[in-house]
Amino acid sequence: MDIKITRATELKPKFTDEASLGFGRIFTDHMFIMEYTEGKGWHDARIEPYHRLALDPSSTVLHYAQEIFEGLKAYKSEDGKITMFRAIENCRRLNNSAERMCMPKIDEEFNLKAMETLVSVERDWIPTSAGTSLYLRPTMIANDEALGVHAAKNYIYYIITSPSGAYYKEGLAPVKIKIEEKYIRAVRGGTGEAKTGGNYACSIRAGEEAAKQGYAQVLWLDGEERKYIEEVGAMNMMFVIDGTIVTPDLDGSILPGITRKSVIELARSLGYKVEERRVSVEELMTAARSGRLSEAFGTGTAAVISPVGLLAYKDEKIPIGDGGIGKISQQLYDTLTGIQRGTVEDKFGWVTEVK
Ligand code: PLP
Ligand code: COI
Repeated sequence: MDIKITRATELKPKFTDEASLGFGRIFTDHMFIMEYTEGKGWHDARIEPYHRLALDPSSTVLHYAQEIFEGLKAYKSEDGKITMFRAIENCRRLNNSAERMCMPKIDEEFNLKAMETLVSVERDWIPTSAGTSLYLRPTMIANDEALGVHAAKNYIYYIITSPSGAYYKEGLAPVKIKIEEKYIRAVRGGTGEAKTGGNYACSIRAGEEAAKQGYAQVLWLDGEERKYIEEVGAMNMMFVIDGTIVTPDLDGSILPGITRKSVIELARSLGYKVEERRVSVEELMTAARSGRLSEAFGTGTAAVISPVGLLAYKDEKIPIGDGGIGKISQQLYDTLTGIQRGTVEDKFGWVTEVK
């Protein structure tokens, strides 16, 4: 399928200060969009001026949340070279989410081409300073104009892009995380491992309550026993216990993070021992109390690597390490962002150039 490009005749004013971009607040001049119709498949792939969507009030997505999305980044170096990081993995994960949510798949190579073509069109919007990037938000929504609850026959897939800086206002500074005991995000057999809007909708209440208490995010426990560590709202979690990096295994209710997978490979290549296994909150708190938990950090596209300075569970608040950025967190952050930005050799073949 060809991608038809219609360029905007009037361009939006560009940002002037890369340091104050924040995350996902401004959008570029164009978007990619195509439609799916049962019997016809995906059609009318195009890049056109950024615009609002016109949906019928009965549209499936507005009622039953049959929706999936992705998040990935494009980078531009000082000399103008544009790269993306493991974008094909996001195309794969989108299809895994589609499978779970009964939505149509998109040919992965074609989806990659759509992302690359859009990034190329929006090249002047990609910031270059450290910590900044062009964030891509591929999104698929179900769009039947009827109220029955079943898999829709019509879908829209679009990609919007947003020049962005740090996800947390703290940047690489350590965040405070609350281990959530009242609410849950996902259960095995549910939709936790899909990147679908409902997982985020159901987490907002806990996030709001935690924010009021001064925490950046909540750390979810498993939905069945409330005993095992799962993940944070927008990040997978890693803990350094007795010098070993420990991370919850993918049990069906956790999002299989691409940053998680990359950090595991990277850490092993740097000589660290990494264990993917169940981690109970009891094990974690015991390690934290005795000082054996030297570092904790989240991994995610938006947040990259985000050190945790303090963990709160029930009435206990335990600072991690010296409350600053741990040595391993810093090393992984520097190496990963270096690979992403082209200043550290990419031995893994993760980075692709966009022409
Ligand atoms: N967990 C959740 C719930 C997320 O939303 C994200 C972000 O996409 C992650 C983990 C990290 O995944 P990734 O590293 O692929 O961005
Ligand atoms: C990501 O893309 O890294 C995300 O976590 C998306 C998030 C802001 C919901």
